[in-house]
Amino acid sequence: MKCLSVKAPIKTAEAIRQKIKAFLRDDLRTDKDVDFVYFPVQESIAEEMKDLWLVKRDFKKREINIEEGIKTSYDVIGDIAILPLDIEDEERALVLLGRKNINVLLKRSSPVEGEHRTRKLKYIGGEKRTETIHKEHGCFYKLDVEKTYFSPRLSTERSRVVKKMERGDFVIDMFAGIGPFSILAAKKGCRVLSLDNNTHAIRYLRENKSLNRVKNLDIVLGDSGKVLARGKNVADHVIMNLPFNSYKFLDTALRLAKENGRIYFYSIGRGEDLFGEQIREIEERIGSLDYMKRESSGPIRRTGTTSA
Ligand SMILES: C[S@@+](CC[C@H](N)C(=O)[O-])C[C@H]1O[C@@H](n2cnc3c(N)ncnc32)[C@H](O)[C@@H]1O
Repeated sequence: MKCLSVKAPIKTAEAIRQKIKAFLRDDLRTDKDVDFVYFPVQESIAEEMKDLWLVKRDFKKREINIEEGIKTSYDVIGDIAILPLDIEDEERALVLLGRKNINVLLKRSSPVEGEHRTRKLKYIGGEKRTETIHKEHGCFYKLDVEKTYFSPRLSTERSRVVKKMERGDFVIDMFAGIGPFSILAAKKGCRVLSLDNNTHAIRYLRENKSLNRVKNLDIVLGDSGKVLARGKNVADHVIMNLPFNSYKFLDTALRLAKENGRIYFYSIGRGEDLFGEQIREIEERIGSLDYMKRESSGPIRRTGTTSA
């Protein structure tokens, strides 16, 4: 996967690694060529450390060798490591608790499911809790990994989306969760309206608002379809991160987006045909509603004309 990295000459690589330790990504493998070592790092390093050589590069996911025979990839949220559903020998994974940044070891016991997109987790070792604070792009997110949705894998996507926003833009985050798009946009100086129908997510989002000292953020608990039943041409950006169901809310988003506003529409298709079919259907609706242009994995942009 593509990730920001610190490019370090082989001779000074270890000294540089020590310096950037707090930003290293645990889930990707360090890479090298003849002259340089490439350390995969969190995007926030760009704001916090200025004298580094930063490049984007493809990295392989880290496969942890939890002793011979067991290989797996895992997510780290704050100081909690989450093992995938299919790992068999959980005891061997306890070695992960030896890592400086991991204090809790859990394992998925269900896929992400239900209206609130949460997953069931099984306790494996370390401290017995599911609450943590995760740092991303210089923001802090307090959350419960079992009661709310959060994926560190969307970090690059969040930064890509927020880069398209300008200070003062009005942003509606229709399915905000604990707020990783909303807080980042508010930090940039956008005015943000965030909604979610999970009481736990909204409680953490309120806490994250104070934790990150952002003011220009309104938070509403409720069904976005109902709460946003009124209003027209108001938003510069509408974020729709509810991949299995966002399609049902597209009319609401189209009504709320301004001329030239952007809608960030996420969907999951099984196989190219199904996804293509959904895109074609959206294009038909957008055309008939006088909206146009889609970028294949990007936002739908409302421009006021009808051809793509
Ligand atoms: C996939 S998560 C995305 C959360 C967040 N945007 C993020 O990137 O971490 C989708 C969120 O939408 C919320 N949700 C589901 N249906 C909803 C609805 N009808 N109205 C408001 N929120 C809803 C869920 O509770 C969940 O927090």
